[in-house]
Amino acid sequence: MKKFFLKTMGCQMNDHDSEVIRGLLLSLGYAETEEVEEADLILYNTCCVRENPERKVYGHMAGYKRLKEAKPHLLIGICGCMTQQKEERQNILRELPHVDLIFGTHNIHRLPELLARAEGGERVVEVWDEAPYEEEGQDFRENLPVERSHRLKAFVNIIYGCTNFCTYCIVPYVRGKEHSRLPESILTEVEGLVEAGYKEVTLLGQNVNAYGKDLSIDTSFSQLLTELNAIEGLARIRFTTSHPRDLGPDLIDALAGLDKVCEHLHLPVQAGSSRVLRRMNRGYTREQYLDLVQKVRQAVPEIALTTDIIVGFPGETEGDFQETLSLVEEVRFDSAFTFIYSPREGTPAARFADQVPEEVKKERIYRLIELQNKISAEHIQGLVGTKQEVLVEGTDGQGLVGRTRTNRQVHFAGSQELMGELVTVEITEAGTWTLRGRVVQPQA
Ligand code: 5AD
Ligand code: SF4
Repeated sequence: MKKFFLKTMGCQMNDHDSEVIRGLLLSLGYAETEEVEEADLILYNTCCVRENPERKVYGHMAGYKRLKEAKPHLLIGICGCMTQQKEERQNILRELPHVDLIFGTHNIHRLPELLARAEGGERVVEVWDEAPYEEEGQDFRENLPVERSHRLKAFVNIIYGCTNFCTYCIVPYVRGKEHSRLPESILTEVEGLVEAGYKEVTLLGQNVNAYGKDLSIDTSFSQLLTELNAIEGLARIRFTTSHPRDLGPDLIDALAGLDKVCEHLHLPVQAGSSRVLRRMNRGYTREQYLDLVQKVRQAVPEIALTTDIIVGFPGETEGDFQETLSLVEEVRFDSAFTFIYSPREGTPAARFADQVPEEVKKERIYRLIELQNKISAEHIQGLVGTKQEVLVEGTDGQGLVGRTRTNRQVHFAGSQELMGELVTVEITEAGTWTLRGRVVQPQA
């Protein structure tokens, strides 16, 4: 039996695309291996949001040349966001002559044919600039096999692409314009998942708040949440990512009022200075962001807020950066993903004249991480002694593992029979990122 090694980089969209790729490969009779040396097919599902992971791909691929020399039938493929960029694609073709197969994010369903051609000795390159949508709401992934990596929690795409064009971001160029799936398709998928025993769904989109805006029918993200909340047997609904610009009062009401919608909001702020935010084309000021946070917290006091922050955006002064630090102190995010600005070819910000020197960016990110780590630690310590609803999701070798509604991992003792159940756990101990507790009440 032929084996594949699949490496996934980047965001949850890519994680979910890889679940489809895995489903397709298994349906073709391949088996998965975790050992790259054992593979007959090595496939990288790549990310292009920043430069570092891209460099890693080149590094790894260079190493696989030796594997291919030892095993000439070995096929090496690259897919995902990196290949959607024309220049990068040409670079791969030139610098990695042993790569046999290149496809993009809009033609994953073509993998069986493309792979067959590569197996026949052809160097296959097929990347589409846009997904093959003939009608609104259509999704070419609809009937593809999916091999999900978890049996209780599932990713569900609701909207593809992004049309925000933040000036630093490559996503709108590689993932295309916003394209929502039809509500019926999403509901059918989630109902099917619940029938198969799934308890939790995470709704995915670069900007879930824009859901439905591109459809001619009258719908919205909050309406979709309301419909999903009514599905019997479904325990929890999560979603990511929200753009502050499109987060309206209806979504705040949904967070507050719908019992299955979990109290966690990932709300990327990117910067604390209004001047920088404007140059980023984010569509909100510092004050508007803070105001939004206040409204969300007023409606849902227990909400966990997480964010993304970029340091060293072109033209960011020490004063601007201080505003990022003060915003972080003011909001007190539960956690934050912090990034050094990475110029992406083809985006407006890459052409801005006032790029920040690397040393300055590094020094700033250290200061930011230090501050956020302190705040994150205070948040997690503050949970000791509280009671939390936990979905039992797995085992850790000794006991059970689950997550709180605010998406914190908790370890606790208990019987395997609790798997998939909601239990109440009293938190007894907090580490850096995870909690320990004891079950005080299994619920029905
Ligand atoms: N440089 C650094 N970080 C970036 N992000 C997106 N583009 C860039 C870039 N060019 C970050 C943003 C976004 C997250 C997914 O990645 O913070 O929210
Ligand atoms: Fe990129 Fe901005 Fe779209 Fe997010 S909202 S994917 S940061 S362009």
